[in-house]
Parts: sequence; C-alpha cells; structure tokens
Amino acid sequence: MEEDTQYYHIPVMSQEVLAFLSGIEGIESSVVVDCTVGEGGHSELILKTWNGLTLYGFERDKEILAIAQRRLSPYGSRVVLINDNFKNLWLHCKGKENSIAAFLYDFGISSFHFDGSSRGFAFSKEEKLDMRLDDSSKLSAYDVINNFSENELTVIFSTYGQERWSRRIARRIVQKRDEKPIETTLELAETVVKAIPRQYRVKNIHPATRVFQALRIVVNDELSAINASLKDAIRFLKPGGRIIALSFHSLEDRIVKDRFRRWAKGCSCDNDGAVCQCTGTPLVTVLTKKPLQPKETEIMQNPRSRSARLRVCQKVS
Ligand SMILES: C[S@@+](CC[C@H](N)C(=O)[O-])C[C@H]1O[C@@H](n2cnc3c(N)ncnc32)[C@H](O)[C@@H]1O
Repeated sequence: MEEDTQYYHIPVMSQEVLAFLSGIEGIESSVVVDCTVGEGGHSELILKTWNGLTLYGFERDKEILAIAQRRLSPYGSRVVLINDNFKNLWLHCKGKENSIAAFLYDFGISSFHFDGSSRGFAFSKEEKLDMRLDDSSKLSAYDVINNFSENELTVIFSTYGQERWSRRIARRIVQKRDEKPIETTLELAETVVKAIPRQYRVKNIHPATRVFQALRIVVNDELSAINASLKDAIRFLKPGGRIIALSFHSLEDRIVKDRFRRWAKGCSCDNDGAVCQCTGTPLVTVLTKKPLQPKETEIMQNPRSRSARLRVCQKVS
C-alpha cells in the first residue's frame, strides 16, 4: 500500500462521516457511493474500515481520478471508479433501486485543484484562467471574464459569490480588459482588489475569494448538479440508508437543507419554488437538525475545513 504517498487534500470531518456510516445496518457488506472521490481520501478510509464493503466512486475530473485510481488499487474489485458527473448517477446505478447503503457528497473542489492542477483556481499564484473540471464545460474562466457583459458579470459575482461589490468589480474588469484581455489569476485578483474600497477589505479573507468561487461555480455549473443528483440518489438508497453531505458555502448547504426538509415532509416532487402538492409520508428522517461543523482541533490542523457543514438524512424503513 502507498502509505507514504503525499496527497494534497486532507479529508474533511472524516471521523463524523465514518460515525454516520457505522450507524447503517449491514454497512460492513454493503455498497456505498462516494459521489466526489477526489484523490480518494474519504473512499480509502471507508474501504479500510469495512473490508466487506464495495465502493462506487464518481469523479468528473480525469486528472484527479487517476490519483485516486492508484491510491485505491490495493482494494481491487471492491472499488468501481466512474469518470462522470454525479448528476448522472442514475445512469450508472440503474437496477440498484432501494439497495445502496449510503451516498457521500463532499462538494466543491479539492486542495489538489488549488495547489496542484495549474488550472487557475487559486488567486495566490500565477496561472492561466481556466477552472474547468472536465470537458463538459464549454466556457473557461478566461471566456467568462473576457467576454461576458458588465451586467452578466455583476449577476454572477453577486449570485454565486454573494459579493457586495459585484457591480464595481465587473466595471473594473470591463475597463481593464478594454486595454488587454485578463489572462491570469494574478491579473484578475489584482483587478478585483483595486475595485473594492480599501476600508471594506476584510482582514484574513482575500478580497478575490468570492469572485473566484463564483467563477468556478458558473464554469462548472456546480449547483444544478447537486440538486439533480440528490433527487436521484434517494431512489437508489435502501431503507435505513443515509445521505451524507458536506457543503462549503451557503449556496450548496441551502440546496441540501431544502431537499432534506422536503423529503422529511413527504415531498418528492420537482416543484422547486412552487407550492408542493405531495401528500406522501416522510421519505427521510433528518439526523442533523443543525449542520455539524468541524471541531477546533480539525480546523487548526486543516484550516480549509473551517467552512464545512455536514448534513445527514436517513431513508425511512
Ligand atoms: C472536496 S473534493 C473531494 C475530496 C475527497 N472526498 C477526499 O477526501 O479526498 C471534491 C471533488 O469532487 C469533484 N466534483 C465536483 N463536482 C462534481 C460532480 N458534479 N460530479 C463528480 N465529481 C465532482 C471535484 O473534482 C473534486 O475532486
């Protein structure tokens, strides 16, 4: 086993994830789906803990999946890795309705993307603006920044970054790119910094954090995939099985919270935003009335875990 291999990413709230998995009856000989394999951190812990368990793993990024493939190879046929978006899980799980013990989601991107992918996810080092996780994204971050209108950029930054200075930032970007295209992360970060009044720059948080988050979400169409995937996952979950979801910003967390709430009330319809007509019995019990957060000790060891929020629901038997 590659015990001394260094990975970029430290799995977040792994003790809590394992504890919720261990509460599922028959977990030791069941099928668990890791919807966001990344470098395989959580997957490896799960496979190590229960040696009769089979793991299906989804990952949309080929490059990081290759790392997971090597890491998980000692587990042989107990691991089935699938290079696809988790929104397509229905395609790969066909025939397994009511049989899967757990779905694990660890949303967003991995430390590998920030530190090792060279695709321009981090504002702290000079890289080309790209941010694509796979070939399904037609647009790169470069295309968005250099071709979208001021209005479109404003909406993106405020909707997906919840950025208070969206309009000013968008205007500054448009002025800057009129001189020459904005090609790199540092050029973009510097443009954003200059657009935010000095007295409103928040200490300890880089002023470009929200803009980079918004771009990544748009380029990879991240949020609609979450909603679509959750709606399908519940069909494949066995009674007593659990969905475990780790979110890293309020937009992700809201989708999970709303979906769990609807299921707990017996709603399984697709009427997002409309009045629900379902009269069914509850589909799940929510096991986390409030989302769990990482312990202080974990945040100290892994500061990137600090924004994590963990929610879990269990399908009713
Ligand atoms: C936070 S990382 C997962 C880390 C992993 N749990 C670990 O412990 O190593 C999230 C991963 O999910 C992948 N991802 C994001 N959205 C996805 C989607 N819609 N379908 C499949 N994979 C996705 C990203 O490429 C990234 O590698």
